Amino acid sequence: MPFRTIIEPFRIHSVEPLRLTTEEERRAALRDAGFNLFALHSDDVLIDLLTDSGTGAMSRDQWAGIQRGDESYAGSPSWFRFRESVHALFPFRHVIPTHQGRAAEKILFTVIGGAGKVIPNNTHFDTTRANVEATGAEALDLVIAEGLDPANLHPFKGNMDVDRLGELLRTRAADVPVVFVTITNNSGGGQPVSLDNLRAVRSLCDAHHIPLFLDACRFAENAWFIKEREAGQHDRAVPDIVREIASLADGMTMSAKKDGLANIGGWLAMHDDGLAEQCRNLLILTEGFPTYGGLAGRDLEAIAQGLREVVDHDYLRYRIRSTGYLGDALLRAGVPVVQPIGGHAVYIDARSLLPHVPPLQYPGQSLAIALYESGGIRACEIGTVMFGLQPDGTERAAPLDLVRLAIPRRTYTQSHIDYVIEVCTDVATRARDLAGYRIVDAPRALRHFSARFAPAS
Ligand code: F0G
Repeated sequence: MPFRTIIEPFRIHSVEPLRLTTEEERRAALRDAGFNLFALHSDDVLIDLLTDSGTGAMSRDQWAGIQRGDESYAGSPSWFRFRESVHALFPFRHVIPTHQGRAAEKILFTVIGGAGKVIPNNTHFDTTRANVEATGAEALDLVIAEGLDPANLHPFKGNMDVDRLGELLRTRAADVPVVFVTITNNSGGGQPVSLDNLRAVRSLCDAHHIPLFLDACRFAENAWFIKEREAGQHDRAVPDIVREIASLADGMTMSAKKDGLANIGGWLAMHDDGLAEQCRNLLILTEGFPTYGGLAGRDLEAIAQGLREVVDHDYLRYRIRSTGYLGDALLRAGVPVVQPIGGHAVYIDARSLLPHVPPLQYPGQSLAIALYESGGIRACEIGTVMFGLQPDGTERAAPLDLVRLAIPRRTYTQSHIDYVIEVCTDVATRARDLAGYRIVDAPRALRHFSARFAPAS
């Protein structure tokens, strides 16, 4: 192409109105919500960057699939189309559909977790960590040191620290039922994992006879980064890279709400027959019959089509570039963000932008509140609110205090993003005036969803 502008490789087919609110209305909404952005009415949000999960726009062909959905209880053709689409990328012997990613996690960890076990991951996401800990097992994060340094430009900051993993397996292999790798590493900035690193993890797992599972929510974005950044991968097709990633693993958990391009869904997949049988037995108790799991036939169709679209190179080029567009603009404006820019989100380093707010007064929460108050943008704290509460009830600073601006897939246009850039830049110039918060009331697990806050002083 002789032109530089990377366009959205689609045009808009159906629109949803956005409602503008005043700053005064937003202040009242914040007070009513206990300063927790999860408690807002989404009608009161102008640009919703809370999550990229289930919030994307489906394509014409996905909506056509919705019409074709066959709701037979057992053996629906929609199930076979779903399984075929999953198998085209992830040829695991058993595919077990679930209503979303955390249901797959819950089933798997119920079977293989338990007190005394330890489950390493580059970084567990919140629900993954909570599902591991709910069984009494320990969730251990072993991302490389570069992955914890927001300014480090390492191309694969999601990589597992193979030395520390090796050490764990040498000393405690019997307690490790599975090794997990999350692609891309969501909690660490949406950063990819290289094929090389996956191969090294695989060989450690082989040496200790431990299965390797992928938390593959954003597998297509990870594969695109491999194509762009890893030596020797540039000329490969993304589906080929994905199949190689799958070939290095024994199984996966998946949220189809991300790189399934669907609004709901997920699956658990594996080669092991015995493990699959135990998981299916639990699936029937909690989700549904194994040919639909927790989903309607129409959802299976939307995912089957979404998986074909998400590995398209034009889509991925646009997707990764538009996230980069936001990140690069914030960097130019002097806003500290995690670098390199990740796949699905831009992460503002709130701890460095608000150095006067100590981690236990939640600089990420303070910044996220200010972005909403000032411009109606809803972002998500990924820091001490989300990860600071320890299983023993004590609280400590999370490794990073980030605010994630997650970009729903195929949903916002460049001018929406230009507005986000303007609001973030304005709030950043006033960062010194932002004060900390304290938690007034919170549950013992996954507190970020429902905690209530008040200004710290
Ligand atoms: N693993 C990762 C890496 C995730 O990012 C998520 C969800 C899950 C598992 C769970 O999947 O939501 O379908 O149950 N992340 C969303 C987010 C919620 O906002 O990043 P789920």
